[in-house]
Amino acid sequence: MPKTFFITTAIDYTNSPPHIGHAYEKVLADVIARYHRLKGEKVFYLTGVDQHGQKVQQSAAKAGVPPAEFVKGVTQKFVDLWKKLDVKYDAWAETIDPRHKRVVQGMLQRLFDAGQIYKDKQSGYYSVRQEQFLTDKERGPDGEFGPEWGQVEFREEENYYFKLSQHKDWLLRYIDSAGAGHDAVIPDFRQTELRNAVERLGGDLCISRPKSRLDWGIELPFDKDFVTYVWFDALTNYISFAGYDPKIDNYEKQPQEFRDRWTKDTLQVIGKDILVPAHGIYWLIMLHAIGFPDDVMPQLLVHGWWNLGGAKMSKTAGNVIDPFALAYKYGVEALRYYLISDIATGKDADFSEERLIKRYNADLANNLGNLLNRTLNMAHRYREGIVKQVGGDSPLAAQAADLVRTYSAAMSSHEIQAAMERVGEFVTTCNAYIEMTAPWKLAKNPERAEALDHALFVLAEALRLAAILISPVLPNAAREILYQLNWSAEYTFEQTNWGGLPAKHQLGKPVPLFPRIEL
Ligand code: MSP
Repeated sequence: MPKTFFITTAIDYTNSPPHIGHAYEKVLADVIARYHRLKGEKVFYLTGVDQHGQKVQQSAAKAGVPPAEFVKGVTQKFVDLWKKLDVKYDAWAETIDPRHKRVVQGMLQRLFDAGQIYKDKQSGYYSVRQEQFLTDKERGPDGEFGPEWGQVEFREEENYYFKLSQHKDWLLRYIDSAGAGHDAVIPDFRQTELRNAVERLGGDLCISRPKSRLDWGIELPFDKDFVTYVWFDALTNYISFAGYDPKIDNYEKQPQEFRDRWTKDTLQVIGKDILVPAHGIYWLIMLHAIGFPDDVMPQLLVHGWWNLGGAKMSKTAGNVIDPFALAYKYGVEALRYYLISDIATGKDADFSEERLIKRYNADLANNLGNLLNRTLNMAHRYREGIVKQVGGDSPLAAQAADLVRTYSAAMSSHEIQAAMERVGEFVTTCNAYIEMTAPWKLAKNPERAEALDHALFVLAEALRLAAILISPVLPNAAREILYQLNWSAEYTFEQTNWGGLPAKHQLGKPVPLFPRIEL
């Protein structure tokens, strides 16, 4: 039974339509998923939408429609976007799904029965925007709550609490020991950030909201006057849509289908804003409390943010970038390429349409597109499109082997931009090889016929390899290159070994692949 690589992303709030930041995360996870599929692994990619909570309730009220109707409309925009951007997932999580509700309620009931949830009274300052009570720690140097908390009001409320602090020592131990198998969090500096936050962890987690102020949520199974806190609801999606049975408290006794998916190779892709406390503290502790052993804790891959002019993108600030508009304007692959190659995983980057065009023209139109077009044109002009294996090894073969090695290392550590850079360097070398061998000169000299055949064959082989390696990021371009090379539409990672082209091979017709974007 092959192992499954289980990958998830944060599920997006449905209070407003998707922007470029949401698109980046789903494309990033899609690229990682496609890479694992290419390696022949079974992949289960889960993504979806976070439909409950106060933000959604408020946006629906503002729009003058019931929340259920409101989320349907926004959800459709996300679905359409993933389709447009070729984000290929295996399961779709919608938190209004009855299946999800059953798991959330089942988990709450179990934790309640085990004494992990209790009722208590709380009074204090409450942030409406962040849907949480605030403590003095949240006050700024001036003693006030900063603008990030939005409207803050005094409240007194009875609520249910999850015994988070009881698991603090476990979490610290887990983070410290996780390195033996794999790191709990990548990159390293985020793991340090999490550890420091856990050290400071004080109280328990309020996991309910009285229906009097929020009814757009999942009802507590043991008290119908409350709904559950949106994070408790949302985080659970990762298991509810993977076949988890909430009635079984032992991971080993979970349905086979679930255990096949949820193994120690579970990777959760999230943005830097939702590591502390949501995923790094609440989620890991929730899993531990419901009986997940340490060796199947998910690994958290924390990515940075796309900003705009150095500032955070937000709907309130009115500076969000619409991914649909960009995909229509420049093409899906241009957008995917930019989002993946102009940011280092874990770091922030600044979004710029000018950069998108620049990167596309330089790397795709001028470099890769040119290599394809020149190679095919020359092969047709001088050899009627037939390439033949003659002569000995080419220096490009050694470079290709090197490329595959460094590419794999980068991809395996999710440094997609580095992997794509390596491919880019290889393509540059191939273009330089054309200049160096000057096939147009060789073609004029019958004594150099073999040298010409050799050069054309080597270039076609290099292109075949490059196409397979770019396929996780640029699936359509890869398909198109292989089509023009007249090589199999089905391929695997193993076929990046040098020498995959038949000794005598008819190439297809050249069609410009990446037309330059003119400003
Ligand atoms: N609904 C919660 C997550 C629940 S997970 C169980 C949420 N939603 S969100 O819509 O605000 O954000 C979804 C994801 O998009 C998060 O991982 C977030 O970090 C990411 N991004 C939001 N804006 C972003 C950028 N500007 N850049 C990159 N990623 C960004 O949080």
